[in-house]
Amino acid sequence: MSQPPTRLVVLVSGAGSNLQALIDAAADPGYGAQVVAVGADRDGIEGLARAERAGIETFALRVSDHESRAEWDAALAERVASYRPDLVVLAGFMKLVGDDFLAAFGGRTVNTHPALSPSFPGMHGPRDALAYGVKVTGATLFVVDAGVDTGAIVAQTVVPVEDADTVETLHERIKVAERAMLVDTVGRMAREGFVVDERRVRLGG
Ligand code: GRF
Repeated sequence: MSQPPTRLVVLVSGAGSNLQALIDAAADPGYGAQVVAVGADRDGIEGLARAERAGIETFALRVSDHESRAEWDAALAERVASYRPDLVVLAGFMKLVGDDFLAAFGGRTVNTHPALSPSFPGMHGPRDALAYGVKVTGATLFVVDAGVDTGAIVAQTVVPVEDADTVETLHERIKVAERAMLVDTVGRMAREGFVVDERRVRLGG
């Protein structure tokens, strides 16, 4: 008998093109995963609209509606847990998760970062890579830990930097490769399983 699909909760903060790529891939039952809910740290974003159009449950939890960052984090963990995910995917989610979230979902939460870790962590990966003058950059999928883009690396994809690039053109080129990496790797994690051994991540049980 075939396995039930891996349950994904995806968290977003913006346009949601990575989310869309996952939703599209998951339309094929052979993909092995389904997006069961999409959450955000703000309202009114295209990422949530994409989920609604696909008939997926959504929620938004704003930090400013909570007494403290820790309370927000606990509320986020509780809400995500209510969807019983096997894997949580942060796809352009612009908040750091905290202790409660990591206690519940550490080791099974991945994030995508638009740079080749460990270079250029933080909010401005494409800008910082361009300013540094690197000739290649890319995107990194990693297992979320308490640091900023520091978790164990699951996959990376390399993108050339062109002489004429602006931050926008470079980020767009990265995002094309990033979406393909995300869809490919999350699908493999779902179908084959994965093992996190300190900093080394292996796909396949
Ligand atoms: C991605 O490049 C992600 O790595 C970065 O922000 C972008 C989000 O894009 N943190 P989208 O919302 O998935 O279109």
